Formats: sequence, structure tokens, C-alpha cells
Amino acid sequence: MEISISQIISTYNPDAPLAEASTIPSTWYTDERIFELEKESVFTKSWQVAARLDQLSNSGDYITTEIADEPIVIVRGSDNNLRGFFNVCRHHAAAVMTEREGRANQMRCPYHGWTYSLAGELKGTPDFNDVCSFDRAENGLIPIQIAVWSKWVFARLGGQVGTQNQSDAELAEFLGADLLEEFNGLDLEKLHWFERRIYRLNCNWKVFVDNYLDGGYHVPHLHKGLDSVLDYGHYTIKNGTRFCLQSSPMVDGEIENINASRKGTRALYYWLYPNFMMNSYEGVLDTNFVRPITLNRTEVIFDFYFADVSEAARERNLASVNVGDQIQREDLDICESVQRGLNSRAYEAGRLSVRREAGEHLFHRLLHADLQAAL
Ligand code: FES
Ligand SMILES: [Fe+2]
Repeated sequence: MEISISQIISTYNPDAPLAEASTIPSTWYTDERIFELEKESVFTKSWQVAARLDQLSNSGDYITTEIADEPIVIVRGSDNNLRGFFNVCRHHAAAVMTEREGRANQMRCPYHGWTYSLAGELKGTPDFNDVCSFDRAENGLIPIQIAVWSKWVFARLGGQVGTQNQSDAELAEFLGADLLEEFNGLDLEKLHWFERRIYRLNCNWKVFVDNYLDGGYHVPHLHKGLDSVLDYGHYTIKNGTRFCLQSSPMVDGEIENINASRKGTRALYYWLYPNFMMNSYEGVLDTNFVRPITLNRTEVIFDFYFADVSEAARERNLASVNVGDQIQREDLDICESVQRGLNSRAYEAGRLSVRREAGEHLFHRLLHADLQAAL
């Protein structure tokens, strides 16, 4: 007999202290019903990074993305306000905007040519004159809640669309005062976007997050290069309400290109529940946004930022991106290996290192709370 979804969720004990805790069970990574429930709860309730602010600098700039399978468009209007909509035409549901990003003076559906203003109002409906009881004013694009923090635009599918100030305040509350205070020290405004790289992995999105949150446990084994500049013994792990900060003092290593691109006194690795990470070194930041595609396919969007993005610094910046790329490839292989193991009948759950894996413990408990509440 098939085990019910509530039984699967109750297999995890969120009350066990770290020294007694296990990971979430393998079924959470392999059962479609959990994936569906995550989309309905975790990814609908939480604020999700949808765009970089620099992509939406001018009136008419837009980006498209998907959150929990929902097509989304975010656009800067002629009044300079940012707005988010479901990217779903009110006629027969085609995606209205089809490029990843661009600039437009209106939004025109490619299927039958309906046009919407940048504020989402339905303006043009070719060959629609004889249609009765049809009110254009009620057929604009459906808005979604968006808010801005620092360099990013967030969207929340399940939120109430109110004023921008309200939304920004709700996002700040979601991020948490403890996290915002931490970020103040990062001097984010001095950093500028340089390059984006997108990785696709054959694993559940949580495998990537778990790997990120193991407190450096895998670094000496998997990332010999990165390990050479981190003081592994003094790595620290600090949990907040909905974030984890993993941090390591930096040392001078023996590998030239790693030394040159990973400098400063401390490496700071922030994870924000459920799927956003910020990795900070001196003058360098990369963010990772983990996008579930299917139960066992995940996309991770890396954005690289530097203090100096002038032409003179280009080669140095590219070298730094390439160091990140190599680390990412090492992670990619192990994540896919873990997913195969999670699919095996030989594995149900594993224990956690008290010294290293408190972040993973927090992740699993927050996830449990969201899934339990959605049942
Ligand atoms: S579906 Fe968009 S115009 Fe018909
Ligand atoms: Fe790694």
C-alpha cells in the first residue's frame, strides 16, 4: 500500500536536537507529491528572487521567469514603477513576453496580437468588436506582489498586491532584522554585476542546498583549490531565524589563481531560506539562486559581482568567475551522485555532524514546518 503524504512528512522529527537529528528522509527528494506540496507552500509563500535590479533600470525594461511553474513578467513602467504580473495572456493563455529580458514600450502577445500597457492594462484586442459583455478593464494581466531589497527584485506568488511600500516592508520582515543587519556590513552598493552563469543539475533542488549547508564538511575532500585558502579548522556556522551564515578565515594558499581571486580576511557564505545564497570575499560577491525545474532537475543561476568592473579589470574578473566555475563543477558531480543514492533502496536518511551541519538542520526544520502547515 502506498504511504500517504502526511506519513512521509511525519517520518521526520523536527524536535530532535542536532546531536540526535537525522536528515529529512530520502522520499522527500524522490516523491512527486512532496515536490507538488513544496511548490504550493514553500515556493508560493516565500519571497523568491526574480531579477537583478540592474536588469530593470529604465522604463520598458522587463524580465521573464518562472516561479513554481508559474510564468512571470516584471517590468518597469513609463511612470518608473516596477510591476510584476503573471505572464499569461487573458485571451488564450499564451506567454505574452517570450524573451528572458529586454525593453519594450508595450507588452504584445505573439499569438493573436493582444497588447497590454507596461502597467498591465489591456489596450488592443484585434477583431474583437462583436464580442458581448467583455470589459477590457477587467482583462488586464493579473498582478503579483514584488518588492525590492538592495540589488534584487523579489516576487511572492501568494502575497496580497498592495502598495510598493507595504510590499517592501513585508519583504524586509521575511528577510528578518537579524539578516538585514548582517548585510549592512557587506557594502553591497559598492559592487557591480559582471556576469551570469547558469548550471543545470540532475538532482532535486534540496540536494544542492544541503551540499551548500554542510559547514565546509566537503571542502577539503571535494574542493582542494578552495580548501587551500580557507582555514577549515576555524570555520564557523551561525543560524538565524531563516538564514545561516557559514564563515571561514582566509589564509594564503599555494595555488596562484585561487589566491588572486579569493582574498580578504573572511569568506562569508549566507544562505537565505529556502533557495538563495550570497558568497562574499573581499571585493567579490556571487549569488546563487536555486530554481527547481522538476522533481530531479534543478537550475542554479550564478551572478558574479565585483567592486571594479572596468575594462582594465575584466581579465582578473573573468579569472575569478572561472575559479567559481571550477568549484561549481565539482559540486555538480557530487550532487548528481547523491541524487542517485537517494533513489536507492539502500538509503533512508543520514545523521548530521554537530560541528558542521547545523545549517542543514535548520533548513530541514524550516521545510518541515512549511510542509506540515500546508497539509
Ligand atoms: S493568447 Fe494572447 S492574444 Fe490570444
Ligand atoms: Fe561545494
